[in-house]
Amino acid sequence: MAGPDTSLLREAASRAAELLGTTTGARLALQGLKQRVDLDALPPEVRDQVARRLASVPEPETLSWREVEVVLRDAWGAKPDRVLAAIEHDPVAVRPASQVHRGQTQDGDPVAVKVLRPGLATALRNELGLADAAAAIVGVALPAVDMAALAREVRERLLDELDLEYEGGVQRSFARALRRHPELGVPKVHSALTHENVLVSDWVDGTPVAALTGTQRDHAAALLAGFHLGAAVFGTVHADPDPRDALLDAEGRLWILDFGATRAVAPDRVAAAADAVDALARSDAAHGFGAAVAAIGWFTEGEARGAHPLARAVLGPLAKPGSVRLDAATVDGVGQRAEAARDELLALALRGRPAPEDLWPLRMLGALGATLAQLEAEGEWLALTQTALRDGWG
Ligand SMILES: Nc1ncnc2c1ncn2[C@@H]1O[C@H](COP(=O)(O)OP(=O)(O)O)[C@@H](O)[C@H]1O
Ligand SMILES: [Mg+2]
Repeated sequence: MAGPDTSLLREAASRAAELLGTTTGARLALQGLKQRVDLDALPPEVRDQVARRLASVPEPETLSWREVEVVLRDAWGAKPDRVLAAIEHDPVAVRPASQVHRGQTQDGDPVAVKVLRPGLATALRNELGLADAAAAIVGVALPAVDMAALAREVRERLLDELDLEYEGGVQRSFARALRRHPELGVPKVHSALTHENVLVSDWVDGTPVAALTGTQRDHAAALLAGFHLGAAVFGTVHADPDPRDALLDAEGRLWILDFGATRAVAPDRVAAAADAVDALARSDAAHGFGAAVAAIGWFTEGEARGAHPLARAVLGPLAKPGSVRLDAATVDGVGQRAEAARDELLALALRGRPAPEDLWPLRMLGALGATLAQLEAEGEWLALTQTALRDGWG
């Protein structure tokens, strides 16, 4: 069977990148990457290239207090100092899409006030047509993939990310579900103060996992992974694990922040993913792997069965039981084995038919892997994944 033409695909991808390169969406993505990427954790061959590309990306500008005040007044219909007992004018965090200030409600509760950057939603909405055009260009090179449906999924999810009222609703449902959990927490949302451009939630005093050391860091990393994988069983994935957005408090509870990038997942797909991981863990389970992956619909059963030994070989220690330190060397090992099997992997990838609803779950997995590698965390990652995808948060 002739596979898709990779030179055609490369050409289409570069034309699509040209089309999107100067958009607000691309700038946001690059600014986010610049704030988060750990250059030291990248393989040496790509490190310089990435460093050069990101050097020209501007840091997000700090919104002045005046600009923040306008957003808050529009949302609350009154000046912020009439609504809150206090709010610090200097932000605690400046991010590509938002800025966060610490404040206090009139009841005396310390809160985090997250403000969406003015103008962003309009700019991104105006670019959505370009994203469809880029998808159409790539679609010509990948006839088996429904690029229009994938583009629609990305568009809908990105629009969710620009609506803090929606984000507040999702955060509220997580906070409720984890209310009695012994080790995980999500800050309560102050609904009456939350609007399309403003999200107010309980302030969390804690240390970001990125700033922890030693066994405390490994422990927090395991809690973080358990949260993100267990969320799939809860029915909603949080697709943006970020070591700055998970705070360990003095009692040892891990608080998860930032519910901007989420998506509902169907229980039968999560169960099939759990079956696939169980089969991946066993050298003699190619058949079960084929059936589970076929149930998800990415590949035929035969294709997936054939990919079982390849996936196990590329993953190496990550597909075997026991404790593994996920660090630059582990990632590099996976990269080198993938490079050695490049043609086989590419041929397989080009035959894949990714479902739009799996994009954000895959984004979660990729970002979780990158986060754990950045933390250089040691843990029984395979066993943890198997348990969390079956039992959720326990
Ligand atoms: N409830 C909170 N308690 C303490 N700090 C918070 C809280 N919410 C946000 N922050 C701080 O603000 C930063 C950015 O908030 P986040 O919701 O992640 O914004 P964005 O969606 O733009 O990434 C967090 O990494 C954290 O440092
Ligand atoms: Mg964040």
